[in-house]
Amino acid sequence: MQHDKQAGQNPVISRQTCIDRDQVDPLAHFRDAFLIPDGVVYLDGNSLGAMADAAPVHVARVVEREWGGDLIKSWNSAGWFDLPLTLGNKLAPLIGAAAGEVVVTDSTSVNLFKLLWAAADMRPGRSKIILEGSNFPTDNYVAQGIAAARGLEVVLAERDAIADAIDEDTAAICITHVHYKTGHINDMAALTAKAHAAGALAIWDLCHTAGAMPVDLNAHRVDFAVGCTYKYLNGGPGSPAFLFVAKRHLAVARQPITGWWGHNAPFAFDPAYTPAPDIRQFLTGTQPIVSLSLTGVGLDLMCAADMAQVRAKSVALTELFIALVEQRCAKHGFTLISPRDAGDRGSQVAFAHRHGYEIMRAMIERGVVGDFRAPDIARFGFAPLYVRHVDVWDAVDVLTDVMDSGAWRDPRYAKREAVT
Ligand SMILES: Cc1ncc(COP(=O)(O)O)c(C=O)c1O
Repeated sequence: MQHDKQAGQNPVISRQTCIDRDQVDPLAHFRDAFLIPDGVVYLDGNSLGAMADAAPVHVARVVEREWGGDLIKSWNSAGWFDLPLTLGNKLAPLIGAAAGEVVVTDSTSVNLFKLLWAAADMRPGRSKIILEGSNFPTDNYVAQGIAAARGLEVVLAERDAIADAIDEDTAAICITHVHYKTGHINDMAALTAKAHAAGALAIWDLCHTAGAMPVDLNAHRVDFAVGCTYKYLNGGPGSPAFLFVAKRHLAVARQPITGWWGHNAPFAFDPAYTPAPDIRQFLTGTQPIVSLSLTGVGLDLMCAADMAQVRAKSVALTELFIALVEQRCAKHGFTLISPRDAGDRGSQVAFAHRHGYEIMRAMIERGVVGDFRAPDIARFGFAPLYVRHVDVWDAVDVLTDVMDSGAWRDPRYAKREAVT
């Protein structure tokens, strides 16, 4: 793995150069706070973030002491009841939100349902909800469900056509900031401004943004946002998502899943529903406390990092990956699907290849974990808190070997697994 090869005109970056870069990386120490199994290069933090070292001890405390020992007292004594807000306030600075504008609860899909419904109510008489056609499907499915229930129209526009699709009949746009397949960044400032100019509301999905790059919801006067915590925020498998409601809308926005946790006085057990006057109204029912509490462990790590440094490292890692793949695998038929300009790219890189699935399976078997998105995309995520420059070099070394040797042709790799 130590050799430097030459491809085309440009000298190939050496493994030692990558080690040197890691030595001056201001975020390098964060890696020690995660459990990355030996022999694994983990490039799938854009799907499921790595486990924080502190997670098992934390879970054991929640289960053994808070639940086992203190039983129901923990709703108060361990702060269980307030966790959605406590964690929301912790997360808020990462996305340019203020305290009281964010809660951690439910899934991204459910939260989007609440916010899209609220947005439609706030724009009566307008019939269109605009989303990106190639978006992660759940957002579009949720919009389709709402449209069917309320007699609205879902307009699916591709990236360059979104702005033009916004008109006086648009109730809301619902756009994912960083595209889940390509990593392309949609222009939050421009699209939000365009929506507002037409009198529409702007909802943003931050699943591939939160924890990967800075974003400033309030600077752009975004109305609503959702996102998950199990990717770059390292909350754990299926950890609860977050939702953001701009303070100026809290008095008017009303979500439709009116459960007792969103009531103004949940323990009054009033037969009639009165919404809480603040962000608590966007809660619905009893929270999955173990998972919710664990989300705080990942969030604490993220909040300790400087987001400008996170973004700078993310750009450096994705640039390095693209350069190395293009130098060392030039003859193997990979097409870069992610934007070449780092300013347009999130923290992931996607290459299309006819045999992307088999190639990814072969890499995973050799310890380099990325993922595959149909029909032909090999996707690699670079979580700046724990991915090193040398990991990028090693990943491309494995890819090169898989391609040069033809190892991906092993028929075993063609069999599709349930989760890819
Ligand atoms: C853009 C986007 N939205 C939503 C989701 C998932 O939503 P949920 O957390 O409800 O499964 C994903 C998952 O990868 C995603 O990439």
